[in-house]
Amino acid sequence: MIKNLIYGILIVELFKIFIVNVFAQPEGTNYDESLVPQFVLPDVLVMSDGSPVTDAKTWMEKRRPEIFKLFEQQVYGKAPGKPGKMRFKINSFNKNALDGTAIQKQVSIYFTGNKNGPKMDMLIYLPKNIKKPAPVFIALNFNGNHTIQPDPNITITSQWVRNNAEYGITDHISNEKARGMSASRWPVQQILERGYALATIYYGDIDPDYDDGFQNGVHPLFYKKGQTQPAPDEWGTIAAWAWGLSRAMDYFEKDKDINQKQVVLLGHSRLGKTALWAGAADKRFAIVISNDSGCGGAALSRRRFGETVERINTVFPHWFCGNFNAYNNNEDSLPVDQHMLIALIAPRPVYVASAEEDLWADPKGEFLSAKYAGPVYQLLGAEALAADNMPGPGQPVMNTIGYHIRPGKHDVTLYDWERYMDFADLHFRKK
Ligand code: GCU
Repeated sequence: MIKNLIYGILIVELFKIFIVNVFAQPEGTNYDESLVPQFVLPDVLVMSDGSPVTDAKTWMEKRRPEIFKLFEQQVYGKAPGKPGKMRFKINSFNKNALDGTAIQKQVSIYFTGNKNGPKMDMLIYLPKNIKKPAPVFIALNFNGNHTIQPDPNITITSQWVRNNAEYGITDHISNEKARGMSASRWPVQQILERGYALATIYYGDIDPDYDDGFQNGVHPLFYKKGQTQPAPDEWGTIAAWAWGLSRAMDYFEKDKDINQKQVVLLGHSRLGKTALWAGAADKRFAIVISNDSGCGGAALSRRRFGETVERINTVFPHWFCGNFNAYNNNEDSLPVDQHMLIALIAPRPVYVASAEEDLWADPKGEFLSAKYAGPVYQLLGAEALAADNMPGPGQPVMNTIGYHIRPGKHDVTLYDWERYMDFADLHFRKK
């Protein structure tokens, strides 16, 4: 009897290990540094016609727009601009949130000005005892605003959410049980104690994260007459999330509690890819942070280490623009690589972070992008990454470009947040 039980448990455990490995390492995934192919990166400081870029003006007026356009046309897709009419509505204001230590606001941002039309809901916590306006961290979240804190006042999203048996979410509708389910990734108290506000929006408010041929989310709002899906060079879902972040910035410009010149944009994983693209597209973000963003984020595509362009386009066909499929298994013909995405943010501070066990996101490729963006920062009078080789785990490097790799898995931890706040302190409080 006991023997059978032990065998049973063993079989279940072995099955679990099998499943984890199959999903973590799809067949053909390369995790061997010696198998990274030889490649030549496009030179960030050479125009497509071969002419060199040797001054800041030529970068800003010629090379930067050229690279930006390539990312738009070939990778993320072109997004529309700011809608003509928007409306902001404060839904709740609590000056005694979190046991009286914080101010909490919930705001709806209506994309078309129509109060019954599509909107995203922003949750904001402000520190109490500081001089306003406050510097702010903004980050999209994966499961709804109510999941970042077990705070009963946060509105539960009514949007489509990912199912999660542990929290009883089986029909894509969230619930009370999910309150605070992602709290470990959101150290709200520590953020406020360090004098920062925190703003977050559920990414599914902008575009639900599944492939529906772009029928839901914000895409249809901008279709031309007769159009039913984005053209091959028009925005995929990452570009739509990034567009939503710019609409959040539009709101900050009207909120007197927020210092619109000190907005730090942070994103994890697919939302790290989004943060980098949003930060490249919208210069109002003062600091941009990529946490474990991997393929299509900070990691160099040409390394083909961990997740590849082909794999990401196959499993997540809605994230990038149609044209990006041309680079499946064909990375060397990309006219850009991801160091150029980071360079688009220059000279604004940018931070790239990796996790040691997150090989899927290619930590070394993430580090190298931060490093190879350096020449553009220097051309603009800022600093390149102060490390030629990857620093060890837990040894952050920070100047205009920041980088760290921490021990552990694909996640956002208190350690990560502490470094990001150090980085923001360094840039906002140095004067
Ligand atoms: C998957 C995907 C990654 C992505 C990650 C995430 O692992 O392959 O590209 O970054 O999900 O967003 O959590």
